Amino acid sequence: MSNATIAILDFGSQYVQLIARRVRENQVHSLIFAPDVGPDALREHNVIGIVLTGGPASTYSDSAPRADPGIFDLGVPVLGICYGMQVACEQMGASVRAAGAREYGRTGLTLVVDDPLLAHVSNPTHVWMSHGDVVDGFGDEFATLARTKHCPHAVVKHLRRPFYGVQFHPEVTHTPEGGQILRNFLFEVCHAEGTWSAGSIIERSVANLRGQISGDLRVLCGLSGGVDSAVTAALLHRAVGDRLTCIFVDNGLLRAHERDRVEALFRGNFSIDLRVVDAERRFLSALAGVTDPQEKRRIIGHEFVNVFRHEAGEIPNARFLAQGTLYPDVIESGHSSAGKAANIKLHHNVGGLPAELGFELVEPLRDLFKDEVRRIGEVLGLPEEIVWRHPFPGPGLAVRILGEVTRENCDLLRVADQIIIEEIRATGWYRKIAQAFGVLLPISAVGVMGDGRTYADQRVVAVRFVESTDFMTADWVHIDPVVLGRISTRITNEVPGINRVVYDITSKPPGTIEWE
Ligand code: XMP
Repeated sequence: MSNATIAILDFGSQYVQLIARRVRENQVHSLIFAPDVGPDALREHNVIGIVLTGGPASTYSDSAPRADPGIFDLGVPVLGICYGMQVACEQMGASVRAAGAREYGRTGLTLVVDDPLLAHVSNPTHVWMSHGDVVDGFGDEFATLARTKHCPHAVVKHLRRPFYGVQFHPEVTHTPEGGQILRNFLFEVCHAEGTWSAGSIIERSVANLRGQISGDLRVLCGLSGGVDSAVTAALLHRAVGDRLTCIFVDNGLLRAHERDRVEALFRGNFSIDLRVVDAERRFLSALAGVTDPQEKRRIIGHEFVNVFRHEAGEIPNARFLAQGTLYPDVIESGHSSAGKAANIKLHHNVGGLPAELGFELVEPLRDLFKDEVRRIGEVLGLPEEIVWRHPFPGPGLAVRILGEVTRENCDLLRVADQIIIEEIRATGWYRKIAQAFGVLLPISAVGVMGDGRTYADQRVVAVRFVESTDFMTADWVHIDPVVLGRISTRITNEVPGINRVVYDITSKPPGTIEWE
């Protein structure tokens, strides 16, 4: 039987993944489904509660997405949030109309009836609103549990079915007691047990991997130095021991000491069969003279597959290839358990190796969010430095060196980048930043050093620090200028060849996180 699951039905809210994570933070498993998922699919997943998310539509527009009416007869509790509340109330006989006054932002909420959903919540309290429609006109089928100044039915309950609706957003931190309301829904209303922990995820995953990779078959795992592939390898190692072979391709586009770190950890600490392929020359000669970013990516991807294919051919019985695909990649590629996601975005972090390599894919993290991957990494004994590492793009320094990628440029950027990382670690900023790096620009600027003018053999480095939760949008970090000052002083003093440092203050959009 699958885990007891809370189903999140995606009506197009920007907070869909946030809701799924909030549920899991309470050690309750959650999965995201298309808005019109049917009761059979939910039964199959052992669903013990359903959340209907908010969304941009109005229930009275023609194209408004609706829930399958069968889900209201499943007998499991349903919580509608914002649009999710409106559409469910309407499907159960209430009407929805444009609000007399729209409510956006922090709003006072008065509780009018005691109910388990609102247990331990202050009265009055504050909630985060963002709506132009309200539920109205619902005879005696529903009861009102709370209201705001402009929303007469801000929290409602159906009197015959296990349905609750909240017009505000309990999932956002701007609703200070939203966490309590979600916990009430999970534990008081759905009677969830809260057994989805790092330990239970590892146990279940190890059992599945042992079932899948049976007999004397071997599994390959490409290591990148990042947390996802490291946790994938550590899980596989626990499941199949020495039937795991890891391959690490040193393409010459890595950060300083990356290869040593990976070797020390996996070969040293974990005693994993690790093959390190020294392919720097091969990659750099393929990249010689290339300046177009997409062409760089294409070449790197192509070389990577060739190197990997060659190494894999040397390992007998290698039937499986492991990848560190995460749940957000699965949802965004439109392959969620519902077979359809409202919001289809193609993300270039998916996979990395084409399935046509002839292996069966093993993706032990495809049900997990990044924070869960980090927690299980810690439980599996990976060091903090790997577990909390910022993401690093597959094409590596090549997309951070604008213009041609040469060994000299890579070395220059490696040293500057190392200084950047050292300084943000030393000042406690590393964990507050989602991604931090330097970009080597293809320009020279005039400088003065000692009594002399510098120019021709000098380059400019841009420092980029962003904060982001999903890397689809990002903001530049308003970092302490003292830290920037130290970075600038150290780079210009310690890296011959760089005489100017600038800070990138572009958000995404309109910029991207990387420069290429
Ligand atoms: P952008 O630059 O698109 O980056 O805002 C979003 C996130 O994706 C990473 N990134 C890549 N990762 N291969 C990868 O594996 C790539 O070609 C690639 N390009 C960007 C980037 O570092 C950021 O985390």
